[in-house]
Order: sequence, then structure tokens, then C-alpha cells
Amino acid sequence: MRDRSKMKEIITTTLSDESFSLGKRLGSAAQPGDVYALSGELGCGKTVVAKGIAEGMGITDDITSPTFTLLEIYEHTLPLYHFDLYRIENEAELEQLYFEDYWEGSGVSVIEWAERAGDQLPDNTVRIHIEYINSTTRRIKIEHPDN
Ligand SMILES: Nc1ncnc2c1ncn2[C@@H]1O[C@H](COP(=O)(O)OP(=O)(O)OP(=O)(O)O)[C@@H](O)[C@H]1O
Ligand SMILES: [Mg+2]
Repeated sequence: MRDRSKMKEIITTTLSDESFSLGKRLGSAAQPGDVYALSGELGCGKTVVAKGIAEGMGITDDITSPTFTLLEIYEHTLPLYHFDLYRIENEAELEQLYFEDYWEGSGVSVIEWAERAGDQLPDNTVRIHIEYINSTTRRIKIEHPDN
């Protein structure tokens, strides 16, 4: 039977390390084709969580924010596709990314500024919304897909 208690989690972190650990927990359970959509205002900690996901997947590279490149690929047992849609301004730009090709493959997609993707993310997306509370505190809502 499906564990409904796992479908939605709200976690408050009072340190960057705690947000990182949360990412690490998600990354260590990541499966091929998973999509993690990170949303929330500038500087709320999306990249911190993305770095945690990468570490949880066993990736040792330094994860940088791909703001200027839109996508950074980390080849690994389970490849990581790290998107940052901050610079996406319209649907046409989004279409040029062909990002559905990534999540239909065998890697794991982590998408910062996922709100820019509108409703184009797949049904299996894990949605992580980060709310800035104060300089060290964040409220992080994780919605696991309904499957
Ligand atoms: N509880 C916390 N969780 C996450 N980050 C925190 C926390 N407390 C402080 N921080 C700090 O907030 C900053 C978050 O930066 P980060 O680059 O991860 O944000 P971002 O959402 O990716 O920004 P951008 O919108 O520019 O991509 C870091 O400097 C981090 O150390
Ligand atoms: Mg970032």
C-alpha cells in the first residue's frame, strides 16, 4: 500500500547544512528518470539543495549554478542534469532546451527556477518549494508525486 505520509513534507532548516542534508537524502534515493523541481526566490537555497542531491547521488564534482549555461551535465553512474531556468523568458526559449529529452533518459534532472517551466514538467516531478524566512531559516515544502 502506498505510504501517504510520504507525499508531502514541510521541513524548516535553520542552517544551510540542513538544507544540504535534505538534498542529500533525496539524492541518495534518486532513481533513473527522476525530476526534482526547485522553486523559490533569489538566494533561498535552491543550489544548496541541488548540491546535496548531487552528493547523495555520489557525485564528487563541484556543483556550480548553471545560470549562464542553462544546463550543466555531470556524468556518473546515474547522470545528473542540473538546469537553471532563471534566464528563460518565454515558452519558445524553453522549447529550445528540449529538456524532456533529459528526463525521458536514464539520468536525474534537477531544475532550479522550475516555476519558469510552467506546466511542462512531467507527472513524476518531485516539487521542492523553498520559502525564505530569515537569513538562516528556510521553510522547505516537498511534494512527492502521486504514484
Ligand atoms: N537554512 C538555509 N538553507 C539554505 N541556504 C541557507 C540557509 N541559511 C543560509 N543560507 C545561505 O543562503 C544562500 C543560498 O544560496 P543559493 O545559491 O543556494 O540560492 P539559490 O536559491 O540557488 O539562488 P539563485 O536564485 O541565485 O539561484 C547560501 O549562501 C546559503 O549559505
Ligand atoms: Mg541557484
